[in-house]
Amino acid sequence: FTIHNQTVSESCPSNIALIKYWGKYDNQIPANPSISYTLNHCKTNTSMEFLANEPFSVQTFLAGNEEVKFAEKIEKYFKNIEQYLPWILKGKYIIKTENTFPHSSGIASSASGFGAIAKCLMKLDAGFSGDPSEEESSRKASFLARLGSGSACRSLYNGLVVWGISDEVEGSSDLFAVKYPVAEIHDVFKNFNDWVLLIHEGQKSVSSTVGHGLMNTNPYAERRFQEARENFVPMKEILKSGNMEEFIRLVEHEALTLHAMMMMSDPAFILMKTGTLEVINKIWDFRRETGLALFFTLDAGANVHLLFPNDGSEEKIKTFIETELLQHTQKNGVVKDVMKF
Ligand code: PMV
Repeated sequence: FTIHNQTVSESCPSNIALIKYWGKYDNQIPANPSISYTLNHCKTNTSMEFLANEPFSVQTFLAGNEEVKFAEKIEKYFKNIEQYLPWILKGKYIIKTENTFPHSSGIASSASGFGAIAKCLMKLDAGFSGDPSEEESSRKASFLARLGSGSACRSLYNGLVVWGISDEVEGSSDLFAVKYPVAEIHDVFKNFNDWVLLIHEGQKSVSSTVGHGLMNTNPYAERRFQEARENFVPMKEILKSGNMEEFIRLVEHEALTLHAMMMMSDPAFILMKTGTLEVINKIWDFRRETGLALFFTLDAGANVHLLFPNDGSEEKIKTFIETELLQHTQKNGVVKDVMKF
């Protein structure tokens, strides 16, 4: 193959899991399957300049500022994926990335970040090895993104996306993500809001690498992995029927279980803040009083993802969020997204 200088750019969204991935084996194999919504508006935009035949090195800039730590992480990642992209160490890279959401928001920037890098690599690869089909290219990008950050592999597709082998999802794999079949999804789930309440902007108390690692010694881990696998049975049914009440029960249970696993690990971590608990209680009171479908999910941090459908009740819900919930955020911050597909 011939290698020449080129610059490519790509954009990739983040995602939020409904059935959570928490715990993994070697080579980024998930301990259980997960399903997520791709966040349409929370994106990372990345440009990658490749300078052929220079000694291998990586330079990275996040929102214009050079980031040496991130560059080291990417260098390690590129060495790790050389077996799949034989040309990858034959040049120098200048990578510039920018998020369309606040860095400290707890929105998974590693998912959108590695997703965008994997897409850039696939573009370079097309220049070297010839154009693959779009399907092949997305699958390989998902495979490569997974090796950077597990949940990133789900960001390569729009809508509802599954990663990890599940008996309930045809074609599902531990090695890459697949789109959940749109024909099997009730319309009410195809136009959904995700508003992230920025409860706490500080550093997370546990990185996801450490968090996954703690599952290796958690006595409840095996039962949890089994539960996540089992949860695909009702999830499939719910997605088809549009049963919102059951959806809410399952999604909130998944979020609280993720946090419970962290509380039960050794050492223990409490990833919620006071504001997180206040918001959860207010959501539950609101639901009890109004019957409207406002509910939450959480990542491995204190911020709360507020989920609600666009089913005619959204104006009342938005008013409730803006008047009752925003006061619990650090800088009255909320990142709004709508997942439409
Ligand atoms: O992709 P990682 O290694 O950062 O793990 C992310 C795990 C959660 O966000 C907490 C859950 C998930 O499935 O995305």
